[in-house]
Amino acid sequence: MNIRKLDKQHTWHPYNSLPSMTDILAVKKTYAQTIVLEDDTKLVDGMSSWWSAIHGYNHPKLIKALNKQASKMPHIMFGGLTHKPAVKLCKILAKLTKLPSVFLADSGSVSVEVALKTAILYQKAKGKNLHKFIALNNAYHGDTLGCMGVCDPQNSMHSLYGTYLPNHIFCNIKDIEKTIKKYHKTVAGVIVEPIVQGAGGMKIYDPKYLKIVRKLCTKYDLVFIADEIATGFGHTGKMWGCDHAGITPDIMTVGKSLTGGVMTLSAMCTTKNISETISNSSVGVLMHGPTFMGNPLACSVANASIELLLKSKWKQKVKKINKIFQKELEPLRKLSIVKDVRYIGAIGVVELTSDKYAQKLQEFCVKNKVWLRPFGKLFYSIVSYNIKTKELLKITRTMKKALENIDG
Ligand SMILES: Cc1ncc(COP(=O)(O)O)c(C=O)c1O
Repeated sequence: MNIRKLDKQHTWHPYNSLPSMTDILAVKKTYAQTIVLEDDTKLVDGMSSWWSAIHGYNHPKLIKALNKQASKMPHIMFGGLTHKPAVKLCKILAKLTKLPSVFLADSGSVSVEVALKTAILYQKAKGKNLHKFIALNNAYHGDTLGCMGVCDPQNSMHSLYGTYLPNHIFCNIKDIEKTIKKYHKTVAGVIVEPIVQGAGGMKIYDPKYLKIVRKLCTKYDLVFIADEIATGFGHTGKMWGCDHAGITPDIMTVGKSLTGGVMTLSAMCTTKNISETISNSSVGVLMHGPTFMGNPLACSVANASIELLLKSKWKQKVKKINKIFQKELEPLRKLSIVKDVRYIGAIGVVELTSDKYAQKLQEFCVKNKVWLRPFGKLFYSIVSYNIKTKELLKITRTMKKALENIDG
């Protein structure tokens, strides 16, 4: 079977045309930090499959948890029924997030939808009909309707979908205080990606703004939603982005690395105040319920992934990764096509002066046996915490060579 030929005929890839306007590589298998292509080419992985494979691929403990659960009960509906993997996961998430009421969902975007709906229902339970949110420029919260509405209006899909999208209030993080003060009577809450804004621009901001959001949301009884889907589980060097400010939001969404990148799963965690206010009011219920909510395979693998993370020396590992990113990427500032270099935790970013280089950079990396996928002006790497120094250096040095190749 010619996989790539068939792919071109029927298979639509993310943010792409059909057939794809770029080359799509066929993957045969993965292990640790390695992606093996159909022609047996081995690539060192510098993407951790979009912030998810924090332990690397096919970790034996995760595969064991998956297989064990698969032979017992791969799936069961969550309406009116419960099971040990889900209950165990909600307990550990409640402890880790300090938010005791947990709703399990099936993807990051869905957990953000649930978070927005929960905030609206909370305000409704308090007798207020508020449906707008304050969100940030450069934000990315997912691709479903509600999520797209709180993504950056300029660099997201707003222009394509027009009035299909709900209308919210956007500001730069530096203006968050005056924006909340101005609009607090008309919004249900505030949604942010803590510390690092991911797909909307890979921007890092000062934790002091999270403290301001916390203080003002408490003052005005607004729901503070921290979307930790990308930042969570140690990516920024602390368990949560919010930990840099020492604050707890009213709602936290988690996903991506929740299962170590093995299964699709997410969660919306919130306070007792919010769950009780909704449950004890005329609203009564959280009106949401995906078919695959609380999937036992995903919950089992999430429990194994969290246990693996907590038992590991992940903080030291992330610190070491960060030092390498700093040492290796910092000198790239001097290249004329480089606008900025940023790094935090296990995330290294080179922002370019133009978006015209992305395709060339990617091709250079693949030729040199490294998997990186630049988008727009951003050439970046997010790695597994188990990456070996040699592998990480292969990634950063290939980034350097790829940039020098263009810079001339
Ligand atoms: C901060 C943030 N929120 C939400 C999402 C959406 O998650 P998913 O792609 O699993 O729907 C993403 C995905 O990149 C994300 O980075």
